[in-house]
Amino acid sequence: DWKMGSFVETSVKALREKIGNGKVLCALSGGVDSSVAAAMLSKAVGKQLTCVFVDHGLLRKNEMEEVCEVFGPNGQFELNFVCVNARQRFYDKLAGVSEPEKKRKIIGEEFIRVFEEEAKKIGAVDFLAQGTIYPDVVESGLGGESTVIKSHHNVGGLPDYVDFKEIVEPLRDLFKDETRQAGRELGLPEYLVSRQPFPGPGLAIRIIGEVTPDKVKMVQEADAIWREEIAKAGLDKSISQYYAALTNMRSVGVMGDERTYDYAVALRAVTTTDFMTAEAAEIPWSLLQTVTSRIVNEVQHVNRVLYDCTGKPPATIEFE
Ligand code: XMP
Repeated sequence: DWKMGSFVETSVKALREKIGNGKVLCALSGGVDSSVAAAMLSKAVGKQLTCVFVDHGLLRKNEMEEVCEVFGPNGQFELNFVCVNARQRFYDKLAGVSEPEKKRKIIGEEFIRVFEEEAKKIGAVDFLAQGTIYPDVVESGLGGESTVIKSHHNVGGLPDYVDFKEIVEPLRDLFKDETRQAGRELGLPEYLVSRQPFPGPGLAIRIIGEVTPDKVKMVQEADAIWREEIAKAGLDKSISQYYAALTNMRSVGVMGDERTYDYAVALRAVTTTDFMTAEAAEIPWSLLQTVTSRIVNEVQHVNRVLYDCTGKPPATIEFE
């Protein structure tokens, strides 16, 4: 649409003027906001931009590969792209920790440490880019509800740890749908611009209790099946957020002639407009049956699948 076309054009022009010959550093999470910010900055200043993407080992299935495909050297954007495999570091730090707030804190701190190390390698930059959008500006002023209930870890909020002169926030005036539209104009693939929210601490808060690499694998596989079947049923546009979580519950089952004692996966799907309150989505029974049988057959050590019918409040959207 012409309005968005002109927004992208004017923003790119304004960014070029502001940045001049300066160097820009951007923390890329793979989410909508930081991806659109990175695409816009790439359009504006090309190789003066360096994007750092940290794989904390708590991403959804194929997520790292998707981000690398779009922003890496074989992608369509001109920029310097750094992909950091920090999986083991995060797993080591999370070993033996089961308390939700502790997990969030560890991930937030380790993320900053990894990012800081990468920033040091790059050296002094002139600008630190952030994917702040208008609702973030408003929410940080008012103190968003979920910010109070759970400590939020976002890629933003790093300025103290990096040597830079100024912050640049190309999306500060945009609402979410406008951000997505700008992303399309900039040529980002649809799966990236229409992505549902994904929390900064990633799958760690969708694995109840202690995080281990094996559990990450289980939740990744179950989640991929759930997302695939929801999309196949054409429900992905009408459900606001949906994912699979790994409960910490193990229970007895039977597989062939064998007794099993394995994990239960919880499926979550909610509809909401503002993520402050939410309702459990009404999922067709046949879809739940399909997903259940696929998960117990395809995901090792899962022998039970549950659907979470709870709204927010009293539950939250995430499990931790
Ligand atoms: P809750 O679980 O509080 O989640 O109902 C509300 C929305 O916020 C997302 N969420 C996060 N997003 N960093 C984020 O960027 C976080 O630490 C975080 N925790 C929850 C959640 O996915 C939902 O969309």
